[in-house]
Amino acid sequence: MTHIRTATHNGVATIEIARPEKKNALTQAMYQAMADAIAAAVADNGVRALLITGQPGIFTSGNDLEDFMQRPPQGQDTPVGRFMRALLECEKPVVAAVTGGAVGIGTTMLLHCDLVYVSDEARLAMPFVSLGLVPEYASSMVLPQLMGHVRAAEKLMLGEPFTGADAVECGIANAVLPAAEVVNHARRMAERFNGLPPAAVRETKRLMRASGAERVRQVMASEGEVFGQRLRSPEAREAFQAFFEKRKPDFSKF
Ligand code: COA
Repeated sequence: MTHIRTATHNGVATIEIARPEKKNALTQAMYQAMADAIAAAVADNGVRALLITGQPGIFTSGNDLEDFMQRPPQGQDTPVGRFMRALLECEKPVVAAVTGGAVGIGTTMLLHCDLVYVSDEARLAMPFVSLGLVPEYASSMVLPQLMGHVRAAEKLMLGEPFTGADAVECGIANAVLPAAEVVNHARRMAERFNGLPPAAVRETKRLMRASGAERVRQVMASEGEVFGQRLRSPEAREAFQAFFEKRKPDFSKF
């Protein structure tokens, strides 16, 4: 049981994160299942677009913190690395339906989707610093590029949560929808690719991403190195333990 449901219907391959009892926290097995699902969708000629979605009220609470503590990912050939590379390199359009909270990699992955629709109940957050960590998967570059340094600093350095409306205003998302409508709306947008010539769509996506691709790869590699070190830091250990002990972390001793 990987807690990732996949289905292909009417040209759209849906990847649904389904672990509501843990707020859709992503384990290594789930990342691997999502990487495999992207590869299968790319290989399937009947698929014109991908849709990533979560559960009512929660898109994903990000990386499973227990997994982070027990099995900190090392290097780039990890399930999370495979998933993010598959997403970044996906030649078909990827649409996200952000059904609720999107924490950490839940927000980071949106930066690498093509169309993003957000529920009016969604709260996005990138609380890497509060966890003793640093941004990952090129978010330290893409976010300031999209919204300017000072607004990105609130989100990355202070870890300030933000709403779907803020996400639209900052250029991360296309539109905010009522919670009950966000998945259907995102699906309808994904289905629009059925009526378009697939090679022209693919080439357009490739051209849109090509000029920044090398820089994205470089930034991802340097972020990954620091992230790996930070995961093993006393600051991160204190933050993770505090989360599971349901208390405030104490960083005064560092
Ligand atoms: N990793 C592991 N378990 C997680 C988790 C995560 N990222 N997020 C939530 N859970 C678990 C909780 O431990 C809890 O488990 P329990 O019922 O066994 O105690 C369960 O999911 C419900 O979470 P809870 O915190 O009670 O839900 P909430 O509605 O009050 O808050 C969130 C939801 C998403 C705001 C909150 O769970 C949260 O902040 N999660 C951590 C987010 C995070 O730091 N992610 C990593 C970013 S790099």
